[in-house]
Amino acid sequence: MLDIELIRNQFPALMQQVNDQALIYLDSAATTQKPQAVIDSITHYYSSQNANVHRGSHSLTAHATTQFEQARECVADYIGAQSSKEIIWTRGATEALNLIAQTYARSTLQVGDEILVSEMEHHANIVPWQIVAEQTGAKVVKVPMTANGEFDFDTFTTLLSEKTKIVALAQITNVTGCRQPIEQVIETAHQHGAVIVVDGAQGIVHESVNMQQLNADFYVFSGHKLYAPAGIGVLYGKLALLEAMPPWHGGGKMVSKVSFEGTTFSELPGKFEAGTPNVAGAIALKAAINWLQQFDQRAVEQHIHHLQQKTYNALSNIEDIQVLGYQANASVITFVMDGVHHQDIATLLDQQGIAVRAGHHCAHPLMDAFGVKGTVRISFGLYNTEEEVDLLIAAIEKAVDML
Ligand SMILES: Cc1ncc(COP(=O)(O)O)c(C=O)c1O
Repeated sequence: MLDIELIRNQFPALMQQVNDQALIYLDSAATTQKPQAVIDSITHYYSSQNANVHRGSHSLTAHATTQFEQARECVADYIGAQSSKEIIWTRGATEALNLIAQTYARSTLQVGDEILVSEMEHHANIVPWQIVAEQTGAKVVKVPMTANGEFDFDTFTTLLSEKTKIVALAQITNVTGCRQPIEQVIETAHQHGAVIVVDGAQGIVHESVNMQQLNADFYVFSGHKLYAPAGIGVLYGKLALLEAMPPWHGGGKMVSKVSFEGTTFSELPGKFEAGTPNVAGAIALKAAINWLQQFDQRAVEQHIHHLQQKTYNALSNIEDIQVLGYQANASVITFVMDGVHHQDIATLLDQQGIAVRAGHHCAHPLMDAFGVKGTVRISFGLYNTEEEVDLLIAAIEKAVDML
């Protein structure tokens, strides 16, 4: 059994008042709040360990380097990578996807090649492919969703061809929380020789992943959605692919020898980590993973699904509110209200201390498919409670009456 009160007490940000009301934070899909253990790891790093890594010879730098590399090992273990060389630090999922596009894709795509991308993706998993398609003469092809708001696997199989070189899709989408069938997509796409990029930004928060079982070629995520700070993220890539890829950013640490006649590059993972990295972020990501590992993940997810289901049941009884693309066993709910702008609802909720997300959620193509400009999204973290759901529903009913 999870003791949610005990968990909540570890999140200082949840203890504040917003607009004279106790904060109800329902925007965890955008970013999670941080537990004290993560905040402490950052404070500890900057108060007693701070040094640059992989440079210099003094004790502080040696210690910081050890911590930094232990964090990489921790992530490698957490996602079942074969080697920590397969873990490249990035600023987040967005940077990781751009890295793949500008190295792997840019150096391999040819005119007429195709990149299949699900219609439900975040812009971070669409735009980098459009940019590299423009650079190489390749084409981005949309894989539509079904009428139920799910990945259209049948259409996907008809779109696959010898031209398909990359398939990019999110494990769990950010607007509706749809779990896309990445296992089947990976297996089928591999049969056609395509490389699979899984955007795990939402997925890793709600499922344990194992790269050996999943067999994705690339997997990316951001620390800040996993209770760690912003500015640290991960690109996992299969070793052989990463080794064959050209470097992206040039600078310190990613080189072996620089001369004006020519430069040779570092081994993995340094080859893709130019410049001073976010050492504190990496260490804090390890702290977040360690912190999360004390909980039974199934219990956490059951708790979140229960809150989501309760919210859905209540919203379904409110006239004028329409839930879009509802997914059972998810951590988010997205809705619109007839004749009312999504931002107005979010503003009224904010006045009652409730933080939700209103807008297009960086998913214009999905908004177009739903035929809306934007929605209100409610998303849960492990710290949310049933009482918060009751207050949310009362606040939405009040907003509906006012609008
Ligand atoms: C599914 C998905 N992919 C990618 C991203 C981009 O993540 P970041 O902004 O942390 O790079 C997000 C952020 O909301 C997301 O939800």
